[in-house]
Amino acid sequence: MNVVFEGIMMFGLRASGFVYALLFSYLVLLAAAQTTDPQEASALQAIKNSLVDSMNHLRNWNKGDPCMSNWTGVLCFDTVETDGHLHVRELQLLSMNLSGNLAPELGQLSRLKILDFMWNDLTGTIPKEIGNISSLILLLLNGNKLSGSLPDDLGYLSNLNRLQVDENNITGTIPKSFANLSRVRHLHLNNNSIGGQIPSELSKLSTLIHLLVDNNNLSGNLPPELSELPQLRILQLDNNNFSASEIPATYGNFSKLVKLSLRNCNLQGAVPDLSRIPNLYYLDLSWNHLTGSIPSKKLSENVTTIDLSDNYLNGSILESISNLPFLQTLSLENNFLTGSIPATIWQNKSFSTKARLKIDLRNNSFSNIVGDLTLPNNVTLRLGGNPICTSANIPNTGRFCGSDAGGDETLTNSKVNCPVQACPVDNFFEYVPASPEPCFCAAPLRIGYRLKSPSFTYFPPYVYPFEEYLTNALNLELYQLSIDSFAWEKGPRLRMYLKLFPTLNHSSMFDDSEVRRIRDRFTSWNFSGSDIFGPYELLNFTLLGPYSNLNFNSQSKGISGGILAAIVVGAVASAVAITAAVTLLVMRRHARYQHSLSRKRLSTKISMKIDGVKGFKFKELAMATAYFSSSTQVGQGGYGKVYKGILSDNTTVAIKRAEEGSLQGQNEFLTEIKLLSRLHHRNLVSLLGYCDEEGEQMLVYEFVPNGTLRDWLSVTMICR
Ligand SMILES: *[C@@H]1O[C@H](CO)[C@@H](O)[C@H](O)[C@H]1NC(C)=O
Ligand SMILES: *[C@@H]1O[C@H](CO)[C@@H](O)[C@H](O)[C@H]1NC(C)=O
Ligand SMILES: *[C@@H]1O[C@H](CO)[C@@H](O)[C@H](O)[C@H]1NC(C)=O
Ligand SMILES: *[C@@H]1O[C@H](CO)[C@@H](O)[C@H](O)[C@H]1NC(C)=O
Ligand SMILES: *[C@@H]1O[C@H](CO)[C@@H](O)[C@H](O)[C@H]1NC(C)=O
Ligand SMILES: *[C@@H]1O[C@H](CO)[C@@H](O)[C@H](O)[C@H]1NC(C)=O
Ligand SMILES: *[C@@H]1O[C@H](CO)[C@@H](O)[C@H](O)[C@H]1NC(C)=O
Ligand SMILES: *[C@@H]1O[C@H](CO)[C@@H](O)[C@H](O)[C@H]1NC(C)=O
Ligand SMILES: *[C@@H]1O[C@H](CO)[C@@H](O)[C@H](O)[C@H]1NC(C)=O
Ligand SMILES: *[C@@H]1O[C@H](CO)[C@@H](O)[C@H](O)[C@H]1NC(C)=O
Ligand SMILES: *[C@@H]1O[C@H](CO)[C@@H](O)[C@H](O)[C@H]1NC(C)=O
Ligand SMILES: *[C@@H]1O[C@H](CO)[C@@H](O)[C@H](O)[C@H]1NC(C)=O
Repeated sequence: MNVVFEGIMMFGLRASGFVYALLFSYLVLLAAAQTTDPQEASALQAIKNSLVDSMNHLRNWNKGDPCMSNWTGVLCFDTVETDGHLHVRELQLLSMNLSGNLAPELGQLSRLKILDFMWNDLTGTIPKEIGNISSLILLLLNGNKLSGSLPDDLGYLSNLNRLQVDENNITGTIPKSFANLSRVRHLHLNNNSIGGQIPSELSKLSTLIHLLVDNNNLSGNLPPELSELPQLRILQLDNNNFSASEIPATYGNFSKLVKLSLRNCNLQGAVPDLSRIPNLYYLDLSWNHLTGSIPSKKLSENVTTIDLSDNYLNGSILESISNLPFLQTLSLENNFLTGSIPATIWQNKSFSTKARLKIDLRNNSFSNIVGDLTLPNNVTLRLGGNPICTSANIPNTGRFCGSDAGGDETLTNSKVNCPVQACPVDNFFEYVPASPEPCFCAAPLRIGYRLKSPSFTYFPPYVYPFEEYLTNALNLELYQLSIDSFAWEKGPRLRMYLKLFPTLNHSSMFDDSEVRRIRDRFTSWNFSGSDIFGPYELLNFTLLGPYSNLNFNSQSKGISGGILAAIVVGAVASAVAITAAVTLLVMRRHARYQHSLSRKRLSTKISMKIDGVKGFKFKELAMATAYFSSSTQVGQGGYGKVYKGILSDNTTVAIKRAEEGSLQGQNEFLTEIKLLSRLHHRNLVSLLGYCDEEGEQMLVYEFVPNGTLRDWLSVTMICR
């Protein structure tokens, strides 16, 4: 009730009389009706109490109502339910340096759809009570230090689309109950210490597309039934220990598989025939104990990567590996392969200019090359440790027998050639590299992003498709994305640093709703999938500079008609009773608050209409001046600074912004504007508008190219 009371006081500050009072009492009731479900509110308290919030990100988690007071990371449904309460829809606590434990009370957030604690330092176990939240769609706990085992109860999450617990310290086994996750598309359990067998029951998951359990302690046999997974695109199980297991022959029957990665799994037996998998892009069976020869049937034309290195394979390289148009990596080193090397591996390839092929055949027993030894520019071949390198009768092989590993991949970002000083050098604004209009200066959003399991090993040919894919997914124009840098990490995973820029015709900044929309796209995984790029990770979405004050939670909260009607009736009835008291209080407060003006104190306002003078939004003026950057400043007077700005309709204006010490009382400010609006002296620049939002007082003038600072400042001199 305290908060509501404060609210009345704030609002009431400028108001008096019966009409306003009536309005207040209406608002009181409105606010009282819209509160968070009490059980959920107390669950949130319990959740906070078991966290350690070293950066104090959750400091507002004790003020007011969770859904009504914009608690950090708490997003609620827009509408009140029939039970008369608001319910929590999402808990978004990505990368907030939180440690401590997850409270069992999480299970009481009964309507929750997204639970996101990625990239924190949480310890302790995953509470089984989370299995109670049957509405849950995304369970995102990756990048913490959680231990203990995966609770069986998670199997009850029949709406779950995505389970990410990768990069934790989870032990135990994969629960059989996961076979009941009938809508799950992503199981990301990699980089933990999960042991035991992969339950064959998982083959019932008819919607599963990505199964990542690499870097764990799995053992036993690879279940042959997995090949029945009708939608599976990626099976990645590297660095486990399936000692004595073979790769089941059924794995040749996967219908949608794009990537099979079983590196360093202690596997035995033969390489199965995978030629019937129509869209296989990526095959990594390296660092096992595979024997026999390379299957004779050709893999999918789409294959980019074949890694069979560090096994016990014998026999010769067959036609099956030749003439693969998209091949980037062929690694067969450290086997017992014999015979001759067919030049068809690199010949007749229709390389795009950005393509590359790395062939590594070192440490085998190749004795010969059949065909033309002239390699295209973008092919590297390594032959060291083969008899071919020591045999005298094959000329020109020497250069392939050394240790040259070939060039690195780089990005050629278009260099922007614009005057340095015209774009504020405060690190938050910069020229948009791909802008169709030259020298467009804007503030990017900076995003840490990682492809968790891409189906290629060399990025340059896929940069453009990637940019198209991502901008499509985000509803942005191609030029709005810039890949600032990228680096391969173990996995291999592809880490990138992205910058997103606002559209040209808009302004130099994204507006708040657009930032929210983009972040929401990333954190809701609302992307259409991509076979070649695989799953992605959002590493960070840090709001810097002009974006740093943005609150992700702000949301418009609707109210259903019936409830509204009930509230209005109630409000009118109660209004009369409350009016007298409120009016009294307001008037007393009013007197007390007259003095000591600061930006914060000015944050309430009366809207005012003055003919010919426009009320500008703070944001509009901030955007017009690149967030009041020093490069847009054209002068300074005692009253404050004057900026040159360009409005969204391309009008150039001069903006006078009052400094803290120069703020006037609101009535005085408005009186001044009224006066100025009547002045149309030919020696004076004319007033176009004002802004009194967010504790600011700004005057907006027509910009006269040859005008001087005095012209803008002198206007005030007259009036003060
Ligand atoms: C919540 O955020 C909205 C939008 O920014 C704002 O209008 C509202 O006053 C905030 N509510 C509270 C209690 O801070
Ligand atoms: C917060 O976390 C980031 C990375 O997640 C780390 O670089 C930083 O040092 C942490 N800060 C504190 C105070 O723990
Ligand atoms: C929540 O979980 C507890 C224990 O796991 C169980 O007894 C209870 O029935 C569950 N409630 C719902 C609504 O699923
Ligand atoms: C994981 O847990 C084990 C034992 O419980 C511990 O030794 C190890 O340091 C933990 N690893 C991390 C990254 O916390
Ligand atoms: C899956 O759920 C059914 C009931 O819905 C239950 O009988 C069965 O035991 C569950 N399966 C597993 C493997 O937990
Ligand atoms: C996963 O674990 C492997 C092996 O411990 C390690 O090399 C790799 O860096 C880890 N990857 C991530 C993303 O943590
Ligand atoms: C891995 O599993 C084996 C049993 O298969 C067990 O002996 C070993 O302790 C486990 N290692 C870790 C790090 O959990
Ligand atoms: C794999 O497991 C087998 C049998 O449990 C064990 O003998 C072997 O040492 C393990 N290999 C590794 C690399 O852990
Ligand atoms: C693969 O599927 C075919 C039918 O599509 C079936 O005849 C064959 O037995 C299967 N192979 C294996 C190894 O299961
Ligand atoms: C992959 O191969 C299939 C059949 O060869 C073809 O239809 C499909 O277009 C290819 N996909 C790509 C991305 O090249
Ligand atoms: C790759 O090969 C094509 C065709 O041979 C050639 O046009 C292109 O310049 C080469 N690219 C590089 C980076 O060498
Ligand atoms: C965000 O991620 C990018 C790319 O991984 C990294 O370069 C940057 O330092 C990260 N920023 C923060 C604040 O963690």
